[in-house]
Amino acid sequence: MNIVVTGGAGFIGGNFCHYMTGKYPEDNIICIDKLTYAGNMETLAPIMDKPNFKFYKADITDRDTIYKIFEDENPDIVVNFAAESHVDRSITDPEIFLRTNIIGTSVMLDASRKYGIKRYHQVSTDEVYGDLPLDRPDLFFTETTPLHTSSPYSASKASADLLVQAYARTYNMPCTISRCSNNYGPYHFPEKLIPLIIANAENDKEIPVYGTGENVRDWLYVEDHCIAIDLIIRKGTPGEIYNIGGHNEKTNLEVVKTVIAELGKSEDLITFVTDRAGHDRRYAIDPTKIHNELGWLPTTTFDEGIKKTVKWYMDNREWWENIISGDYQNYYEKMYGNR
Ligand code: NAD
Ligand code: TYD
Repeated sequence: MNIVVTGGAGFIGGNFCHYMTGKYPEDNIICIDKLTYAGNMETLAPIMDKPNFKFYKADITDRDTIYKIFEDENPDIVVNFAAESHVDRSITDPEIFLRTNIIGTSVMLDASRKYGIKRYHQVSTDEVYGDLPLDRPDLFFTETTPLHTSSPYSASKASADLLVQAYARTYNMPCTISRCSNNYGPYHFPEKLIPLIIANAENDKEIPVYGTGENVRDWLYVEDHCIAIDLIIRKGTPGEIYNIGGHNEKTNLEVVKTVIAELGKSEDLITFVTDRAGHDRRYAIDPTKIHNELGWLPTTTFDEGIKKTVKWYMDNREWWENIISGDYQNYYEKMYGNR
């Protein structure tokens, strides 16, 4: 099978390319990535020479180029990871989120329709459901929870989901959508919470915690997300949405303290800063459907996952230090300079 993976030079798409090229030597993985600030060829370096892997530097909003790649590669399956993914950036500059996340998805859907793809899979997020109150631990997001977005990022992802559903119904396209909770693991760009804690703690820099640190996220080790998507594209029912999450809710402060302890650093580095505008309080996934229908369960506990992640960042310092020494510094100043 020929599988197009967009956004494969990013965090989750990169892990997915590693996972798929290793697990299915008989399939061809064709990665398409624009290499924005979040795309990193060093993430793909370990698999670039594999015979079942191919890389195209291309923008998913560039219709002509995307059609040409489909014509040349004849894909059976498309997995669309490519997106602008950072909530804080969407608050300061929403437009690129609309362009990549919505227009880009429409181009990928049109290409998939034109070239008769057997399965189009949209990688979405639990953030499309908005948030849950902190004092209602009995509430979880199910696949039928209404969309109720808080940030320009989540609004763009929800818009993309609606487009996918519209194409599935109008053109009878074989589409699936997955909505996963927060991922962590290797190759996570150090603007996101967990790798930012590691990088800052290692450099004895302050660790910025938004607001009071009581917001809750439901953390999943990235490989478990990859396993779930692989199951959905092979065994999932066209037209269906699958929530992915491992019932692993933690406050941000708990996460920060766990990572600091694993690194053997001091909690004195924790610095409370101005809260994110519109900050979602709690995300919590009900993964019953994917468990019952596809037999998926997470395989890595948070304790194991954090240990593996910290070890990876210690063993691969060059990967994240190269990022931090580049443009990232300017961005960092813009985000945290006045906080
Ligand atoms: P990321 O920001 O690490 O990677 C995004 C990748 O997409 C980068 O390689 C970037 O270069 C590429 N890209 C951006 N715009 C592009 C364009 N116009 N054309 C082609 N490539 C482009 O993001 P991530 O954390 O790996 O997230 C991947 C997907 O998973 C996203 O769709 C995101 O919404 C979703 N998701 C992420 C999480 C999470 O915790 N990170 C959780 C649930 C869902
Ligand atoms: P993030 O990794 O940006 O993911 P998301 O916003 O998509 O959930 O942030 C995770 C949580 O950590 C979120 O509640 C915001 C918070 N946070 C901080 O407290 N400090 C930080 O420096 C960052 C980047 C995030």
